[in-house]
Amino acid sequence: MPLLIIQDDITRLDCDAIVNAANNSLLGGGGVDGAIHRAAGPKLLEECRTLHGCDTGDAKITSGYNLKAKHVIHTVGPIWHGGENGEKELLASCYRRSLELAVKNDCSTVAFPMISAGVYGYPFDQALDVAVTTIGAFIDSYESDLTVFLVIFSRRDYRLDPDLISGLNRYIDNRTPKLKVNRSFMGAAARCASHKDEVIMEMADYSCTPIEEFVSSRIDESFTQMLLRKIDEKGMTDVECYKKANVDRKLFSKIRSNLSYHPKKRTALGFAVALKLDLNETKDLLMKAGYALSDSSKGDLVVQYFIENKIYDINKINEVLFAMDQEIIGEY
Ligand code: AR6
Repeated sequence: MPLLIIQDDITRLDCDAIVNAANNSLLGGGGVDGAIHRAAGPKLLEECRTLHGCDTGDAKITSGYNLKAKHVIHTVGPIWHGGENGEKELLASCYRRSLELAVKNDCSTVAFPMISAGVYGYPFDQALDVAVTTIGAFIDSYESDLTVFLVIFSRRDYRLDPDLISGLNRYIDNRTPKLKVNRSFMGAAARCASHKDEVIMEMADYSCTPIEEFVSSRIDESFTQMLLRKIDEKGMTDVECYKKANVDRKLFSKIRSNLSYHPKKRTALGFAVALKLDLNETKDLLMKAGYALSDSSKGDLVVQYFIENKIYDINKINEVLFAMDQEIIGEY
């Protein structure tokens, strides 16, 4: 049940439910509310009239009508009045109540816009923090296969915590002066080519140990074996581990049942974060799957920064990776 941050227009998504940032009347408005009503057609408003409004922090569900989404979950975010008026609790409640409704209505995919972060004036970085923390906590507490998308409409909206940005900039500066992070994280992706070192083995003496014997005597613990060993050593359950790794249950079962499973690098990194491995252990786990961490890759440096600072919150890491136009970690 992963959380994924994506950039899109929520009205176009083919999800079981999309969430609407509505007002107390539930009778439509501007922003994402207006866009959803336009795309769903007049029947949505007809059904909304029967709901008799909605309290701030609460949510109600309707059909999706002309939308690809089967349902629309209407929630009412708080208006920002400086942060001392219960805004955070109300915003968190919007996410929780919407997720509860999604689960109750058997939705397996649900997409949220950034509730309150538009007309209602909630500062974007703080709204993002509430969204990610609340959705993350819900994911941890529910045993279900819901996939949650947090939809960012425009990258221009995207601003992260300034302390995090300066810490990350200092870290990247120290590692490689060439890879400075753009303050607004709007810089183009600096994807770096991966270098594949070719190892050439000269086999001059063919009378040496037969190849099968050589391989079976040298073969080391596999990625799956190391992963399962670490889960046991850390006293975690499988479920705790794959949820914290942003990996879905089906993929985890596949990995568990195949001792020579070859994961994607982002999947291996998700597990390293879930298991709270230090940098050396992370490198060992990656090596089991044939990968390394490179100081020439922005994405790798971001993950290293979080690991070295012992910040093992995969959703926070993915927020930053997304903002820097890097591939997010985990797999779904
Ligand atoms: N897809 C995804 N996100 C969108 C879209 C879209 N099509 N359109 C806008 N956003 P807002 P609020 C983003 O103002 O702050 C309405 O009039 C937008 O960039 O829609 O909760 C209601 O009726 C921003 O990040 O909602 C209420 O009166 C986020 O959605 C009031 O606005 C929320 O912006 C609610 O204000």
